[in-house]
Amino acid sequence: MTKKNSEPLKTALRLLRYIGRYRALLAFVFLCIIVSSVAGVAGSGFIETLVDDYITPLLLSERPEFSALARAVAWLALVYAAGIAATLFYNRAMVTITQSVLKKVRDDMFAHMQSLPVRFFDRNSFGDLMSRYTNDVDTLQQMISQSIPQAFSSAITIVAVTCAMLLINPPLTLLVFACVGLMLLVVRQVGGRSARHFMAQQKMLGEVNGYIEEMINGQKVVKVFCREEEVKAVFDAKNDALARQAASANRFANILMPIMANIGNLQYVLIAVLGGALAAAGVGGVTLGAIGAFLSLSRSFAMPIAQISMQINSVVMALAGAERIFQLLDEETETDDGVVTLAAVEEKGGILAPSQAAAARWAWRRPGETGAEYVEARGQVEFRGVNFGYTEDKPVLRDISLYAKPGQKIAFVGATGAGKTTVTNLLNRFYEITEGVVLFDGVPIGEISKSALRRSLGMVLQDTRLFTGSVWENIRYGRLDATDEEVVAAARLANAHDFIERLPEGYDTVIDGDGGSLSQGQRQLLSIARAAVLSPPVMILDEATSSIDTRTEAIVQKGMDSLMEGRTVFVIAHRLSTVQNAKAIMVMEQGRVIERGDHESLLAAKGRYYQLYQGAD
Ligand SMILES: Nc1ncnc2c1ncn2[C@@H]1O[C@H](COP(=O)(O)OP(=O)(O)OP(=O)(O)O)[C@@H](O)[C@H]1O
Ligand SMILES: [Mg+2]
Repeated sequence: MTKKNSEPLKTALRLLRYIGRYRALLAFVFLCIIVSSVAGVAGSGFIETLVDDYITPLLLSERPEFSALARAVAWLALVYAAGIAATLFYNRAMVTITQSVLKKVRDDMFAHMQSLPVRFFDRNSFGDLMSRYTNDVDTLQQMISQSIPQAFSSAITIVAVTCAMLLINPPLTLLVFACVGLMLLVVRQVGGRSARHFMAQQKMLGEVNGYIEEMINGQKVVKVFCREEEVKAVFDAKNDALARQAASANRFANILMPIMANIGNLQYVLIAVLGGALAAAGVGGVTLGAIGAFLSLSRSFAMPIAQISMQINSVVMALAGAERIFQLLDEETETDDGVVTLAAVEEKGGILAPSQAAAARWAWRRPGETGAEYVEARGQVEFRGVNFGYTEDKPVLRDISLYAKPGQKIAFVGATGAGKTTVTNLLNRFYEITEGVVLFDGVPIGEISKSALRRSLGMVLQDTRLFTGSVWENIRYGRLDATDEEVVAAARLANAHDFIERLPEGYDTVIDGDGGSLSQGQRQLLSIARAAVLSPPVMILDEATSSIDTRTEAIVQKGMDSLMEGRTVFVIAHRLSTVQNAKAIMVMEQGRVIERGDHESLLAAKGRYYQLYQGAD
């Protein structure tokens, strides 16, 4: 993922925008926090009145009258009760806000990820991406649910306590301020250091997850080559680095609280001693009640400051997590400036017009100022001088030109890495062509909207991938509105029907994950059926039959030949037997088409194809 300089303030503001969606609820939370904080401060401040106005007179009186005191205590209880209720309410509201924000963040990430180009997934480890959904989103939880309300409540408390203290006794207030100044100094010194370590910690966490994911996927290879020990050692090293980062990040943060607590204690003692001395000397109007109130208030003053400093930890961590989340959200999406779409048409008086009829044909629809233009989608494909490289410095395809008439079968053969899959990657615009043009029924594919383009291409990709779900669902993935009959027909065409029938529950058998319980060949047959059910004008089969035994292949071949009828088909195959009946065979080498022709003419030419053919048999 592209690394930008970290800008904590920007990240924080962006995060606040997410939280800002719940303004009304937040306003309620803040209101409750005010009630709760003021209730706490009022309770503490009331100690002065309680002592000086009620308790001291009672102590001095001959016949103490307790009813006034009882009333005062009842009031105090009421104030505290209101505070407790408000605290309860805002905490519950915060849970709602937090979970809604986290859900929204995850939704946004997933939606954005779906719109990212294939290239993005080439560059990023899947484990690291997963880590953004889990660990990084988790960091937001504590910040939103605790740090934000606490920061607000602390601010309110500080203001309220300051007012209360100033009202009761300004000289003692100055003493408290001095202690607080000392605390702030410590926070700055200690807290600031941990910040940059948190970013590194989240990054390491992503890396560790990436490694775990890779090793889970590759566990069979690890076992085959007996690399368990090495894998463990590498993991240990990465995990060590993570632990070290986490320790540096938390080291400073964790000593903060004890330091703060001790400064708080010091302040308590100073107030008691100094206040007592002042009261005894009768200076500054210090009363016994004032000292009592101050002891309690100064605690309420130190507490929010200690709390805020505690939260710095989680805020810094959340900002680090948020930054990684936003990096993902800022990844450039797959652009699609194609305006040409697919439409159902029929011929009316010699021209194509939109149609609802069941027997409608497909056409490319180009919107124009004087109404849309239609070109029938017949599956004619042309490459003109196409150059392409995945990276700028390394050309992969060089000057590819070819022409496929509707209904023709075009085969690509050639050594591994020659660029066969790359040709198909360009056809469905997984990647954009660097130079040259690809025309689909005469329309440059750059002008066709990607979804329309891909809907018109049935692809069996080189790496077969199935999804969790029944066989029905997996085949229907190609076209969601396919009827059961159509699904079975597609399965028959792909010659998958027989083995599906033999599965424990036939078409209802649930395939887990990536089809781990099926053989490689069975997976390929299912993915052929999945493409067949779409019934598109152009089919692309990338090594679709590479894992199928020769007998089944012959049957699949027959099925595919009927599937290919009236369609343009691109077949990529290592086995030359698969491609012998192709109309045109393109022999590729290092990104170039070096020979082309049908089977007989290529054999007669005694070139590269001839060599491959000889080698194959
Ligand atoms: N995503 C990618 N990023 C960068 N380079 C790539 C990528 N995919 C393929 N390549 C490079 O492009 C070249 C052609 O690869 P391609 O997959 O088209 O070969 P192929 O002919 O399909 O080979 P095979 O027969 O093994 O499937 C190779 O040199 C490969 O290293
Ligand atoms: Mg390939």
